[in-house]
Amino acid sequence: MAITQDSYKQVFHLLQDLVFIVDDTSRVIDMNSKAKQRKCAQAMLVDCFVEDGRSHFLQSLHNNPHVFQADFYTSSDNRLYAEVSVAPLSDTKEKLFLIVVRDVTAQHDKELDLLRFTEVIYRTANPIQITSTEGKMIFVNPAFEHITGFTRDELIGENPNKISSGKHGKEFWKKVWLKINTGQQWVGQLQNRKKNGELFHTDLVISPIIDDRKKVIGFLGAHRDITEQKILERQVVRSQKMETFGTLAAGIAHEVGNPLTSISSLVQVVQRETEDDFVQEKLELVKNQINRISKIIRELVDFARPSTHEVKDVSINLVVREALNIVQYGKRARAIKFNVALEDDLPFVSAVHDQILQVFLNILMNAVDASMGNPESSISVLTKQSDEKVEISISDNGTGIAEHHLGKVFDPFFTTKEVGKGTGLGLWVSLGIIRNFGGDIHVESELTKGTTFIVRMPKKG
Ligand SMILES: Nc1ncnc2c1ncn2[C@@H]1O[C@H](COP(=O)(O)OP(=O)(O)OP(=O)(O)O)[C@@H](O)[C@H]1O
Ligand SMILES: [Mg+2]
Repeated sequence: MAITQDSYKQVFHLLQDLVFIVDDTSRVIDMNSKAKQRKCAQAMLVDCFVEDGRSHFLQSLHNNPHVFQADFYTSSDNRLYAEVSVAPLSDTKEKLFLIVVRDVTAQHDKELDLLRFTEVIYRTANPIQITSTEGKMIFVNPAFEHITGFTRDELIGENPNKISSGKHGKEFWKKVWLKINTGQQWVGQLQNRKKNGELFHTDLVISPIIDDRKKVIGFLGAHRDITEQKILERQVVRSQKMETFGTLAAGIAHEVGNPLTSISSLVQVVQRETEDDFVQEKLELVKNQINRISKIIRELVDFARPSTHEVKDVSINLVVREALNIVQYGKRARAIKFNVALEDDLPFVSAVHDQILQVFLNILMNAVDASMGNPESSISVLTKQSDEKVEISISDNGTGIAEHHLGKVFDPFFTTKEVGKGTGLGLWVSLGIIRNFGGDIHVESELTKGTTFIVRMPKKG
């Protein structure tokens, strides 16, 4: 059955696009119902276009079938974003063109929205990851690559536990998945690990991505790097602990000091009154012990005095002795043999006394910790001058450090000690202090054999 011209005409008017027939000057010869309905009133179709759209349209009247996108004004105050198809009508005597204007405004707006969101996600400083419902990463932004040290290619398709530090156990993750799988948001803090092994901390919000049919189709994880903040928090706790210890020490010194003075005077009184050699001898021993306690107390008081931050001439030998005194009194250090060889006439260094003391205390405490359980344990402390530097080496014959840990001991939070025992900030803070005064710290170690820390500082001037 042949289709009549009338039928074609009906098709022309039934089309949901705006359809025009124009001549080669763009004069409108005919338009379909939809175009009339949208009140297209321009005599010349080119006047529906602005700027680049105009020239583009005029050019297309000289081209073969052609499609382009542009703003299209049905009237001066009614704009739509259109996909415009231009095709010459071949069987007419005049040069005529069929113009189909399809309204793609909604789609275009969506694309623009998407572009804006994509830009935001690409440019933001916040690390962002999208994970599929199967638990595989399907998108990461540049900030995520930056913070983790992994490239996109190394992450896509992997489980997010690729950056796990191992701190949060199975139970923890079970709870997280339970929450997000039921369409709820999870908010919390994570300790993660970079490609190079360094730890970093983030605040994380995981939100399920839900489609039109309320189905979870993925998970958006937005991180905020809080590593610096964590370091500061723990440093505050550390220095607060030191301060508490200081106050405590001052209190103890006072409480013990007073009765000790009484005992000391009593001993002297009894010594004066007795002729008995045996009693004299024993009282002499008591006096020695009292002197020893007094010395410890004086050192405690010294240690407890408010710290100064003044850069002064510091005698490394004095600070080392001070640190040794404090550490040696510890119960755990009793079984350890200390070999001390301090070079005479060591030049001064310019530094803050209390900070340097803190460095040696930490290195010595670490050595003591590493010596636990070794009945033959010894710690050697050596100072000497070499070139323009003052060199302090502290060696132990303790556990040693595994080769794959050696590069990490100065990293913040790196600790092999039990939870609550070590913060992993000791060496990090120590290195910061020594570098601040122009020096450096090196470590040499062999597993099961022992460890040596060498601190070098420029001599004064
Ligand atoms: N002398 C040593 N022998 C063996 N391991 C050591 C020694 N010194 C440091 N380490 C290793 O380096 C890690 C980091 O030391 P660091 O002093 O920075 O932190 P920490 O002692 O664990 O905690 P804290 O913040 O309380 O000092 C230790 O946990 C330990 O594994
Ligand atoms: Mg330590």
